[in-house]
Amino acid sequence: MTTNSRDRALRERARAVIPGGMYGHESVALLPEDFPQFFSRGEGARIWDADGNEYVDYMCAFGPNLLGYRNPAVEEAASAQAAMGDTLTGPSEAMVTLAEDLVGMISHAAWAMFCKNGSDATSMAMVLARAHSGRRKILVAQGAYHGASPWNTPNPKGTLPEDRAHILYFRYDDLDSLRDAFRQADGDVAGVFATPFRHEVFEDQFLPSAEFAKGARQLCDDADALLIVDEVRAGFRLARDASWSLLGVEPDLTTWGKVLGNGYPISALLGCEKLRASASSIYVTGSFWFSAVPMAAAVATLAVVRTSDYLERMIARAEEMRKGIAAQAAAHGFGIRQTGPAQMPQIFFSDDPDMRIGYFWAAAAVRRGVYLHPYHNMFATSALTEADIAKTLAATDEAFAELKRAWANIPPQPNPAVLARIKAKALLSPR
Ligand SMILES: Cc1ncc(COP(=O)(O)O)c(C=O)c1O
Repeated sequence: MTTNSRDRALRERARAVIPGGMYGHESVALLPEDFPQFFSRGEGARIWDADGNEYVDYMCAFGPNLLGYRNPAVEEAASAQAAMGDTLTGPSEAMVTLAEDLVGMISHAAWAMFCKNGSDATSMAMVLARAHSGRRKILVAQGAYHGASPWNTPNPKGTLPEDRAHILYFRYDDLDSLRDAFRQADGDVAGVFATPFRHEVFEDQFLPSAEFAKGARQLCDDADALLIVDEVRAGFRLARDASWSLLGVEPDLTTWGKVLGNGYPISALLGCEKLRASASSIYVTGSFWFSAVPMAAAVATLAVVRTSDYLERMIARAEEMRKGIAAQAAAHGFGIRQTGPAQMPQIFFSDDPDMRIGYFWAAAAVRRGVYLHPYHNMFATSALTEADIAKTLAATDEAFAELKRAWANIPPQPNPAVLARIKAKALLSPR
């Protein structure tokens, strides 16, 4: 059983000085009480909360931990750069090396620009698409997350309808719907955003058909609009190139973040040759966008991506976990859906409209030292070991058993805000 006195004390202190006690995607407000809010450290695939409880971590800081927390090669590169300086009056050599490395690895890319967060990169892509084409409309899949800027935040409080006046929506993986959006835009499309696969909260995940990806490419070419693939969440967990290289499609722009520096704050916009001049015409910048330490960390991360079997190892472990959980669910008599790539799993229970079963099961796993998430897609790291998977499957098996024992008395999902979120999500962008 975990202890949580320090976490409770920190939450109490936070409530006094941080609005709502916490904000953004790392707030545990919609999660059961068993989920800690504060953490003290990470190593490999494990994290320790503020009370010292240890977890095999399947959130990976919501993605960034690709190679393991405190990966030695990345830490060494970051420390060496930190010893020389981080945020200076101009960028360091690491910026040029990093751009060269990315251009060498990502087939469609002829240049790179760097920023801090995924939202910076997607907003920069939007601005560039409009600057290049002189057009206004941006097409986005309904309900897709591309960041927390006024044009794309899922919580429109404080934004204006005008912020989205030129955003049009289509159904992901539906070419007719995308075609309709182009028609509606009447020759005014600057760019089309798509994620590599459908990976939204509270939803089953799915990969698009090659027909959709190729059709989107063709529609963009016919209309002289830009195809923008947002790799912020999925980048380098599907492929060592841009994710749609697996479908034979080259985007014009890709946005990257999260994994790029294995946890160090850096994101990127990569573009094709024809956009070079337009990219140099826009004004985009930030006080910390040129900091050298995250760039050195990213150079080291990409070296591991290029030269190791990190991806194959991560997929093998994740598939082992998926198979194990499927067998356990069947043995305990539960229907579950495990969707998306195994290394970015989303797990939902059948007949669980208010998610009370999923919440109960995930919380039971957390109490046993395995950090699973009940409504957000999870992330595997290449640092997962056989021992991590064994610990995971022992915990999930016990969690299924606890669920079965509690079956008749599973409390309704304790947080009504969750149901409100599920409903609100359906209203955010018209379907
Ligand atoms: C697909 C996608 N795009 C953009 C973002 C925004 O990234 P950030 O939170 O780093 O601003 C996210 C974050 O989860 C994302 O998943």
